[in-house]
Amino acid sequence: MLAATTRAADDTVSDALDPKAMREPLPNAWYCVGQAATLKAGGMRPVELNGEQIVVGRDASGVLFAMRDRCPHRGMALSKGRFDGASVMCPFHGWRFGTDGRCRDVPTLSETDSSDFSRIVVQRFPVIESAGFLWINPYLGPATAQDVPAVPELGFEAAGCLVVELVVEASFDLTTLSLVDPGHVAFVHDSWWFRPSKELREKVKTFIPVPHGFVMSSHATTKSSPVYKLLGGVPDVEIEFRLPGVRLERIVAGDKRVANYTFATPLSNNRTMLTNALYWSMPLLNLLKPVARPLMRQFLSQDQQVLQHAQAGLDRKPTMVLLGQGDLPSQWYFRLKREALDAARTGRTFENPLTQQELRWRS
Ligand code: FES
Ligand SMILES: [Fe+2]
Repeated sequence: MLAATTRAADDTVSDALDPKAMREPLPNAWYCVGQAATLKAGGMRPVELNGEQIVVGRDASGVLFAMRDRCPHRGMALSKGRFDGASVMCPFHGWRFGTDGRCRDVPTLSETDSSDFSRIVVQRFPVIESAGFLWINPYLGPATAQDVPAVPELGFEAAGCLVVELVVEASFDLTTLSLVDPGHVAFVHDSWWFRPSKELREKVKTFIPVPHGFVMSSHATTKSSPVYKLLGGVPDVEIEFRLPGVRLERIVAGDKRVANYTFATPLSNNRTMLTNALYWSMPLLNLLKPVARPLMRQFLSQDQQVLQHAQAGLDRKPTMVLLGQGDLPSQWYFRLKREALDAARTGRTFENPLTQQELRWRS
């Protein structure tokens, strides 16, 4: 009897979700690691992802690869070496690695030296290209049939695109919460061109669960925003949040399309990359690029500034009070993340714990 009780208690402890896992970014997910077009065939570059240094490249035939940016010999950064379109040569002692991570050559070995280098392998990571970006899944755990959140796609032919990337000295969670937090917009993004009126207005929005996230259903938005006026007509706007840290805003006005995508990427502890990409289907809008770029940068640095100050406060005391309906999407983020971790841990399919709900707040 006693033994049974003890076992039950042990099971409870070992089955519980590790609280540390909840504080870290989702391990098995795709993260944006930069623009795809700037990585040409035969090129490689270093990227940082969740504490890993990774070298991502494109071989001579255009196929992507990603591997740990660390030579197994003495730890040298392989991204500092040379890539001939087929293999990477470490700049320290010339060891060569194929894009499959396997060691191909150790040029310093004498012909009489039978040391076997064929079993030396650099850790590889899956990498794909979508919506003009490169995406890496840094997960190194056992292979499972887990369903990971889908990588964002664009869904239309973009005539142009504007990308701004900014490093935020704040945790992945805090930064990601800003993607689902309607309450900060009026206070943080108060530039005249984005928010001409300073008044808080009552908002009522319907939220619907979608795979690995939720969407604020399509609706006619205010006509007063100068950015929306450019579209002509009343646009339909749909804003989706999806794990691990993806916000997809899609604007449709007749046959015109604009998409404003934001991705959070964990670089290292309390350092997060925010990537904002604005795509449009109307070639005329390309003329506005020089004007739009500084505005977009200003918008993103408003988030950056406030998040860094908030992180300092959370460093002193790591608790939040999530209050009212405006903070419900933030609570949903944590519920979705918990469910993803729980599903992975117990080897079952992810089941979205959210239900359709109408939320009211002032912003
Ligand atoms: S450290 Fe790379 S070859 Fe020696
Ligand atoms: Fe923001």
